[in-house]
Amino acid sequence: MSTHPVPSRVQEGSPNPITTMHAWRETWMQAKNDPDAFWLAEAHARVHWRTPPTEGLRGSYHTVGDGPFSWFADGRLNVTETCLDANLGTRADKVAILWEGDTPGENRTLTYAELAAEVNKAASALVSLGVQKGERVIIYMGMVPEAAIAMLACARVGAVHSVVFGGFSAEALRDRIRDCDARVVITQDEGLRGQRTIPLKATADEAVQGEKGVTHQLVYRRTGADVTMVAGRDVWWHDVVETASADFEAVECAAEDPLFILYTSGSTGRPKGVVHTCGGYITYASYTHQTVFDLREDDVYACVADVGWITGHTYIVYGPLANGATTLMFESTPLYPDAGRYWDMVERHGITIFYTAPTAIRALAAMGDDFVTRADRSTLRVLGTVGEPINPEAWEWYYTVVGASRCTIVDTWWQTETGGIMITPVAPATPVAPGAATLPLPGIQPVLVNADNQVLHGPVSGHLCMEHPWPGQARTVWGDHPRYVSTYFSTYPGRYFTGDGCRRDASGYHWITGRVDDVLNVSGHRMGTAELESALVSADSVAEAAVVGYPHPIKGQGVYAYIVLQPGVDIGDSVEVWQKALNGVVRTRIGAVARVDKFQVVPGLPKTRSGKVMRRILRKVAEGDVSRLGDVSTLADPSVVDAIISGAGLSG
Ligand code: WTA
Repeated sequence: MSTHPVPSRVQEGSPNPITTMHAWRETWMQAKNDPDAFWLAEAHARVHWRTPPTEGLRGSYHTVGDGPFSWFADGRLNVTETCLDANLGTRADKVAILWEGDTPGENRTLTYAELAAEVNKAASALVSLGVQKGERVIIYMGMVPEAAIAMLACARVGAVHSVVFGGFSAEALRDRIRDCDARVVITQDEGLRGQRTIPLKATADEAVQGEKGVTHQLVYRRTGADVTMVAGRDVWWHDVVETASADFEAVECAAEDPLFILYTSGSTGRPKGVVHTCGGYITYASYTHQTVFDLREDDVYACVADVGWITGHTYIVYGPLANGATTLMFESTPLYPDAGRYWDMVERHGITIFYTAPTAIRALAAMGDDFVTRADRSTLRVLGTVGEPINPEAWEWYYTVVGASRCTIVDTWWQTETGGIMITPVAPATPVAPGAATLPLPGIQPVLVNADNQVLHGPVSGHLCMEHPWPGQARTVWGDHPRYVSTYFSTYPGRYFTGDGCRRDASGYHWITGRVDDVLNVSGHRMGTAELESALVSADSVAEAAVVGYPHPIKGQGVYAYIVLQPGVDIGDSVEVWQKALNGVVRTRIGAVARVDKFQVVPGLPKTRSGKVMRRILRKVAEGDVSRLGDVSTLADPSVVDAIISGAGLSG
């Protein structure tokens, strides 16, 4: 399958345009041989610096235990000057944010000039609420332009934002507020998705109850619902932002000052606050957004993620705005009012680049082609996918039905920690293959290693690691640098371990096979098994819980929970009620994003004599494949396995 034939017109500002495989190869080698020169050139060309950096990388994966490595450390900037001010010369009247609300055709546009003014007003308001440079601000909102304005306003004052996805519960929100010690929470009365309201303010109220550290909530009115406003603490956006000054001098930051914290799930413990810094992140967001999607000046670019995830940060807000693009923000769901919503939007707005997740593609493919073909999609040029491996059937449907076999598909592999896209086709250059993330971008050096940290060569499968830092890489875990070091740099010393497995074929293409750690990927959302287990064992009826993933036709992975009941508990005929109650606990602890799909009550968990749960066995049973369970002789009680197998309705 080949890529589209139209030659690219890469915008000015890229010293390293990639429009052919030859250019990719040359650029990749150049970046490998001299990463500092490569990234400094990109940083200088793309970013509006107050003081341009002279220094590239300082530090390495070998010294990360002594402290974070840095990029461009002597540079000074405010990232919003790249995203806003730098566009006011030639793009003041160009639409920066094109918003589509929950109801089809409910639109708002903000030009670059309007967005800059709004961000300044919001920045003025934050300062009037006492927010200072370096302080953390939590943003708990739906997909309204004010969410992006809030992020940029924080960046404008040098504050560190942490966006919490609106599907997280009050408890999860409180954990994050505490972890980063935020004083201000920006929220809205309610979110709105598919005519369903999400009580954001009420949830935020519950989260901040008794939290002495939170001095203010800034509340945007979206639906007009009646919400409680606590005098002295809660202020309306329309009272303090709309009346604030549109003149605001951006606060100068060091390149390595934190820009934002984003919490993400790992194998163990609570979610980690992944920290991204100003200069490196904005360089990488701009570089990848332009290069991968082959961005052109008149593109209408639509990424339908949520700003609560890294995809929303990098590819709805920072990357597109740094590149002066028109970026769509979508409030609703792909199924409202019907399964044709995305493609109707493509027609109405003339979308040229469309970026979504495999789970949405699979769900929509199952609804039939008519929802797609009824819309005019002739403007589409590049289709992107992210978040999980895309199965070849879904890829083919995206390519032939949505893209009418005319568009390039970029299957972009990356992570919260990587800041931006890492392994991907480059739209105008890379020949694609259904299901392959293909090749690394310039400046990215993936390797596959075995358990002994030996680099594997040729066509092979292994654990995916990176050999060399890049500017967009997360620098630390908020408040816990040792956790950053142990999570990412201890399994394979001297390398960054991604947590993913990967197969490389004879042509050097990368096929990501999924997580090799205890992280689940459900509908493109990362979920830690440890978080789910700790929620489940907090229920009175549960003594022990072990959670694994299993293949799910739409979600990619479903959540399978093995439960050992407390002695004396008998759920008898009320299985459904009991399961519902457990999912209620999960919802309270984590949020509506998390849900167990299948429960199995077991007499015990398969543990080694040292007490470690053998998840391999549990995964096999959940997958319905007990043919090769492997060695169970190290189990403390091998009979448990037979009980689990027969309980699952399988035979060994
Ligand atoms: C998975 C999302 C296969 C992977 C940007 C990774 C993918 C995790 C792809 C990160 C892809 C992301 N193909 N797998 N194109 N993109 N993943 O932090 O397992 O929410 O480690 O970042 O998603 O999820 P995160």
